Amino acid sequence: MSRTVYVNGEYLPEEEARVSVFDRGFLFADGVYEVTSVLDGKLVDFDGHAKRLERSLGELEMANPVTRDELLEIHRELVTRNAITEGMVYLQITRGAADRDFAFPVDATPTIVLFTQSMPLIEKPTAKTGIKIVSIPDLRWGRRDIKTVQLLYPSMGKMVAKKAGADDAWMVQDDFVTEGTSNNAWIVSGNRIVTRHLGTEILHGITRAAVLRMAREVQMTVEERPFSLAEAKAADEAFVTSASAFVMPVVEIDGQPVGQGTPGPLSRRLREIYIDEMRAAAI
Ligand code: PDD
Repeated sequence: MSRTVYVNGEYLPEEEARVSVFDRGFLFADGVYEVTSVLDGKLVDFDGHAKRLERSLGELEMANPVTRDELLEIHRELVTRNAITEGMVYLQITRGAADRDFAFPVDATPTIVLFTQSMPLIEKPTAKTGIKIVSIPDLRWGRRDIKTVQLLYPSMGKMVAKKAGADDAWMVQDDFVTEGTSNNAWIVSGNRIVTRHLGTEILHGITRAAVLRMAREVQMTVEERPFSLAEAKAADEAFVTSASAFVMPVVEIDGQPVGQGTPGPLSRRLREIYIDEMRAAAI
């Protein structure tokens, strides 16, 4: 059955949705995006995603075509029209269509597109088995804190992982892990949970922020600092966080088992806490 998608003010069957070939998202990757998960037909951490979207737009001097209330309304409408109980809403805003010129156009109207994807998030088989990671150099640009649609390098990283029989890649810069192709990276050593500090080198994950808060609430010791690939390989546990993966255990890095090579107890506990709390707070 065809999905209903949202394009520039209209709800349309996906086959009828159109964006210009001159759109700067298409020509320059001049656009930003958000992915918000849906549990029980409700939006998880909508405010966090809306706030980060506003920040990404501001950093790129891009106009915001919708208010936060309108954005919430569109998300909810799409969830209802597509009968999504579990899955996600993808949102993209670009600078709009204009004659091809590297300089930003002065009068372009932003393009806004949203669509849904129905998929199981809680009962993912990998949540039980954990995922395997390979390391790759981080060759992305220097403003990874802005959630832009320039995803070619992460996409290539995912292919490196696939070809190596793994599930995903962690990117490494100057021996330190920055983040996963589409998630934040964490390790656990003893009772210490470590994830890289915020800066321009990583995306400021909305799930990362929630998991940090929850870990502190249950008295886990948390450190926000760089960790090396060697430290990760010697850790007791590792996991990644993202809107679609929640807390996902990592059981192997570059062919070496992490800890016992099975999802660790702290990773499993944080996944449970995250799902319980987010389910209760979803709107
Ligand atoms: N990816 N780091 C990168 C590079 C990401 O692309 C993502 C999200 C994250 C985690 O952020 P959050 O917790 O806010 O989802 C970290 C989304 C899910 C995607 O591209 O599908």
